[in-house]
Amino acid sequence: MGEFRCSDRTLLNDWHVIAERSALSSHSPFVTKLLGRDLQVTLDGRYSQKVVALETGEIICSDMRYGFIWACLAKPERDIIYLPETNEPDRHLLSGGSIAVKVSGLRAVENFLDMGHFPFVHTGWLGDEPHTEVLPYNVTITAEDEVLATECKFRQPLASPTASAEMLVDYVYRVFRPYTVALYKSNPLHPERKDVIVLFIQPIDQENCIVHSYLCYVSEGIEAAAVRSFMQLIFAQDKPILENQRPRRLPLDPRAETPIKADAVSVHYRRWLRDRAVTYGAIAHSV
Ligand SMILES: [Fe+2]
Repeated sequence: MGEFRCSDRTLLNDWHVIAERSALSSHSPFVTKLLGRDLQVTLDGRYSQKVVALETGEIICSDMRYGFIWACLAKPERDIIYLPETNEPDRHLLSGGSIAVKVSGLRAVENFLDMGHFPFVHTGWLGDEPHTEVLPYNVTITAEDEVLATECKFRQPLASPTASAEMLVDYVYRVFRPYTVALYKSNPLHPERKDVIVLFIQPIDQENCIVHSYLCYVSEGIEAAAVRSFMQLIFAQDKPILENQRPRRLPLDPRAETPIKADAVSVHYRRWLRDRAVTYGAIAHSV
């Protein structure tokens, strides 16, 4: 089942991260997989790269941005997502690592959108008991066709490496593309600004993904290495939870898993995937 080839145009015509640039060597090609296809990445000098489909020898569209190598298996319909925060000179811009997870990438997006798990999975960091309630928040589909959740608030014991005390943290979530999601989180030193964490999720096949995280943190008071290790600490707590999810693919039938009020963003995300005919990594909604 996991080897199934992708036929979703939305995904085939979109850009996906397939490697972190700094992890590649100029001496040997790097082999990876995207949407069930084996790809080989070769660096071609410092600023360019060549991506080839191993099975056919076909050259695949590729690009380099945000420190990652990107590929589009068919015809790019849109550009790689634009992150305006990357132009602000006082931010750390870095990879938070690329971690293979044995679950559909759509499940990884949904878990990232879920505040309800904070007190149980990230106890002492992003939540603690008995403060388990997810307060009401808003979800909309934007003019750019993104899922946007705003006015999310959660009481967190240690929200960030620069947090020194418990704080009520403001979150905004944005699903840019089916496998790309960002979190905007209030900065402890400058609450009017937001630290940004983006997950560029590489669907290996329907039930396996690589989560590439990209961090855009206001740099005041914090070293890049601390931002990276905080992300890795939190994600190491998520990984076993994700890998225990069954089914490994995301069910899109609204009746498959009982939604509760706190899951508003998840309900919107699943509906948004259905409306865009995204089936890869999902269990399609039968009508
Ligand atoms: Fe988590």
